[in-house]
Amino acid sequence: MTVLKHECQSSGAGSAAPSRALGATAASPSVLARMIVRPGAPVRGTILAPGDKSLSHRISLLASLCEGVSQVHGFLRSDDTGIILEALTALGASYSWRGEVLTIRGGRWRAPERALDLGNSGTGMRLLAGLLAGQPFATTLTGDRSLSSRPMRRIAEPLLRMGAKVELTEPAGTAPLRIAGGALRGIEYRTPVASAQVKSCVLLAGLFAEGRTRLIEPAPTRDHTERVLRALGVAVRSEGTLIELDGCGPAGPRLAARDWTVPRDFSSAAFWIAMAAAWPGARMTLPGIGINPRRAALLGVLTRMGAQLRVTPEPDDGCGEPVATIQVDGALLHGTEVGGAEIPDLIDELPLVAVLGALAQGRTTIRDAAELRVKESDRIASVVDNLRRFGAEAEANADGLTVEGPLTPLGGVTISSYGDHRLPMAMSLLALRAAGPVEFEDVGCMAKSYPEFWRDLREVGGNAG
Ligand code: S3P
Repeated sequence: MTVLKHECQSSGAGSAAPSRALGATAASPSVLARMIVRPGAPVRGTILAPGDKSLSHRISLLASLCEGVSQVHGFLRSDDTGIILEALTALGASYSWRGEVLTIRGGRWRAPERALDLGNSGTGMRLLAGLLAGQPFATTLTGDRSLSSRPMRRIAEPLLRMGAKVELTEPAGTAPLRIAGGALRGIEYRTPVASAQVKSCVLLAGLFAEGRTRLIEPAPTRDHTERVLRALGVAVRSEGTLIELDGCGPAGPRLAARDWTVPRDFSSAAFWIAMAAAWPGARMTLPGIGINPRRAALLGVLTRMGAQLRVTPEPDDGCGEPVATIQVDGALLHGTEVGGAEIPDLIDELPLVAVLGALAQGRTTIRDAAELRVKESDRIASVVDNLRRFGAEAEANADGLTVEGPLTPLGGVTISSYGDHRLPMAMSLLALRAAGPVEFEDVGCMAKSYPEFWRDLREVGGNAG
């Protein structure tokens, strides 16, 4: 594959971006701490799912380093992305909202005055750490309780090898994280886990390194960082599990601002796709969904389970991500097995696969998914616990779970979010089919990725209040 070499900054060039934040993003006030979901008729309708979280992170991080103003359409407005915008403001970028369009003014970063709090955002912390490793100043990154329990050695190790000073202040190898960036050198690195966050961290640091950065993954993971970098003119080469780019040294690449349209998030659309797919009589249409093959493996799993799906490609949005309208008609599903290289391509949809397994005929098995243990919650334990509360026969094991269906979910039960945004949304599929009302506790965490989930559920006929 031949790609033109990208332009690097000449050292000392580039102007400091204004430091004023022009607006604030806020989670919707419609997200409440507690919700009652009542059983109802099969869902029907069209949902405009929120913007892609992974792409919103990457676009805002890189736009904040671009010279000039980037306009972003479809940017996810949520707790997680609000947090990253505030962190970027502390680093010298500024942003404002006009209606649903986000404007980011970027430039050279400057040292923040205080520690940057990444809240619950693992993507925010790991990707930002990569870029900070290339900056000539020190920064401390902190997070909430859940984020502070997630593994950070996986990024500290390659960054240290590249020459950054990275201090993990806790013996468990978790945040707070102190990074003193500077003189990086490119490395060849085999990532021990299939993680797009680790890959992205190293690639972003590689932009500021002398020489070539080469990564070899155990299995391919979502390639949004590579696509966004290419859309900015950075020559990223990839072949199978190998990805490489040439660094620009401490001055970093010279990136020109551009406009973006963020596709709607497959992982948020997945709740509606799965809800309709497993419910005879349901019908849902989801336009504008990002169907990057490294994200959309749930579609293949659902098809194996007997789902009725229609995927109609939409015109290219100019940002290098495939987009489609997904139409779903409800059916009776049967159990399946997922594992191996398929796992990274549906990592965030595995709680939903477990829920689908409870609604489907026969056994569903998830294997090779130990990474679920270190997500926003231990998703093997939290999913199995909540499935059992509905009366399901579910078993956890070291790297996955099994569930036997079909289940007629119990009503009158209480579901715990475990502070993990994706759990209540996955469990709502069962609540809508339960024998009586189901109470959801602590659902404020859903504002991380989908603040308007309950409003959208009511729009397609669900009873939540
Ligand atoms: C993400 C990568 C995945 C995913 C997370 C978002 C990203 O994490 O679970 O929700 O945007 O890069 P890992 O890279 O740790 O698997």
